Amino acid sequence: MRIAEEHAAAEAVAANPARGSLFVAEYFDWRPKRRSIFDRVGNMALRRIGVEPILATAEAFDRRITRLMRRLGGQRGSEPMAAISSGVTTNFERRVNMYHLLDQVLAFNVPGDVVEVGCYTGESSVILQTLICRHGQHRQLPLYDSFEGLPVPSEQDGSELPQWARDGGGLDASLDVVREGFRRYGLPVPALHKGWFKDTLSTQLPDQIAFAHLDGDLYESILTGLEQVYPRLSPGAICLIDDYCDPAVDPDGWNMLPGVKRACDEFFLGKPERIEPLYAGAASHAFFRKRA
Ligand SMILES: C[S@@+](CC[C@H](N)C(=O)[O-])C[C@H]1O[C@@H](n2cnc3c(N)ncnc32)[C@H](O)[C@@H]1O
Repeated sequence: MRIAEEHAAAEAVAANPARGSLFVAEYFDWRPKRRSIFDRVGNMALRRIGVEPILATAEAFDRRITRLMRRLGGQRGSEPMAAISSGVTTNFERRVNMYHLLDQVLAFNVPGDVVEVGCYTGESSVILQTLICRHGQHRQLPLYDSFEGLPVPSEQDGSELPQWARDGGGLDASLDVVREGFRRYGLPVPALHKGWFKDTLSTQLPDQIAFAHLDGDLYESILTGLEQVYPRLSPGAICLIDDYCDPAVDPDGWNMLPGVKRACDEFFLGKPERIEPLYAGAASHAFFRKRA
């Protein structure tokens, strides 16, 4: 899209009478929470014998099956069976958190652009762009990704990674898929910065950042993201870190990418900011706000 077309698209979204966060449930075929097949069958059987359905029974069964599948490995096995059917990379809870955190910095005019470090097919970046446009603000949303998938993990990522993160190359998406996602929702297509974070971020990030979504899954990717993004964050800016899980705070959280927390622990030693874990349903993530 050319610049005039980009502005026209942004203005059309801003002029749309739809308001609020409902769009986070409409995009990507999100459907209201469905019970898993185990819940449904279990509850049906309970009802048959005249017992009020006890969801916890079926959920406990789900958890056992999930644990078993995790032990067996594989991409499916890394996701809880009872997880909500919602997009591929962003569940409903994460989108709601993302919505409110970005909304804060836009409403309070924290200066700077919005960046996503690890965009994959662009699910989460479409959410960010929709909200920027609805605020009627012309902030840039540069996206950074190898578009060749994840790099090879390091020792810091642990030995029990989900299959798609084990060998490098998992989660590769094409630039066209990302562009197509933005067009589908009538949004301006952002600048896509292709390359490894260690090569692109230091020279291609904007000087001032109001909101950053770090979603690189692995220790090195998150550490590089923090090193490059942190000094550019405006006071009051928010940085949301996907997959951050602190089992001491959230023992039931999704903790399959432990390198993310390791990178954060290392980076924040001696820094004044605190990482705040967020409830994210079957997933995990956390944020910090840049101090003045
Ligand atoms: C989980 S996906 C991002 C998902 C996306 N933010 C969403 O919620 O829809 C992680 C992405 O980070 C990219 N990535 C991870 N480490 C990277 C690195 N060091 N350099 C470039 N890209 C990287 C991968 O290619 C992948 O597309």
